Amino acid sequence: MTQRTALITGASSGIGLAIASMLGEEGYALTLVARRPEKLEAAAQQLEAAGYPVLQIAASLQDEDAVKTVVEQHRERYGRLDVLINNAGIGIGAPVADLQTKHVDMQIGVNLRATMLFYREAIDLLRDAAREHRNALVVNTASITAKYGEAWLSVYAATKAGIVNWTESMHRELSAEGIKSTALCPGFVDTPMTDFVKGSIEASAMMTPQDIAESVRFLLRVSPACCVPEIQFVRPGERMM
Ligand SMILES: NC(=O)c1ccc[n+]([C@@H]2O[C@H](COP(=O)([O-])OP(=O)(O)OC[C@H]3O[C@@H](n4cnc5c(N)ncnc54)[C@H](OP(=O)(O)O)[C@@H]3O)[C@@H](O)[C@H]2O)c1
Repeated sequence: MTQRTALITGASSGIGLAIASMLGEEGYALTLVARRPEKLEAAAQQLEAAGYPVLQIAASLQDEDAVKTVVEQHRERYGRLDVLINNAGIGIGAPVADLQTKHVDMQIGVNLRATMLFYREAIDLLRDAAREHRNALVVNTASITAKYGEAWLSVYAATKAGIVNWTESMHRELSAEGIKSTALCPGFVDTPMTDFVKGSIEASAMMTPQDIAESVRFLLRVSPACCVPEIQFVRPGERMM
């Protein structure tokens, strides 16, 4: 059987690296995308050492041409795409009076716009996979901040609410063809992104990147008749919707 493939953005650390590792275990050939080349190279080496086929592409996904290039390089290398993980993200906190336009644009560009562009660029590959097995999967990493607003993280939270709504639209538009879409909505996960809060919340009290990756393993295994548009992950006692 032809080996299935996955393209994972934000794959150099944290949740993206854990999902990539799980997908390697499940037999997928991998394309890893992230911004900083040295960090990406270290992640790629780790996955190659585990025996998984890896294509690594360093690119800043705020740039439309970068999104196009990533999908083209993936297509040239593998010729098919079964699983797309739109996971790259940044959060830049600021009170509303101090918002910098550059930071607003970065968060919208990476967290929201790049996800939309990846769907557009990869839709023909996803359609081919869906025609073959009716289980093409796109996972979009949102956040629990998508579900209720967050002071000082307002721009980030708005982009993540956009991701949840976008995922619902993609579910309505594409799932009947066999292209499923799921938004992941985690609370605090122990990754470099939450280093800023580790003075008040212990890393050991946070969820692990592997917790989130296990949810994607579940999504790979459900039947073509089962769609899961959203998953929330909260810590004990924490608020959910
Ligand atoms: N950790 C949490 O508590 C939490 C909770 C809810 C949702 N999330 C979401 O989970 C996703 C993964 O975050 P994480 O917690 O795993 O943090 P992380 O370890 O910092 O990973 C973020 C990833 O995104 C990449 N990235 C950032 N800006 C990029 C850009 N302009 N172009 C391409 N790649 C870029 C990073 O690459 P570089 O390091 O090279 O920039 C890195 O690979 C994000 O979407 C985040 O919003 C995290």
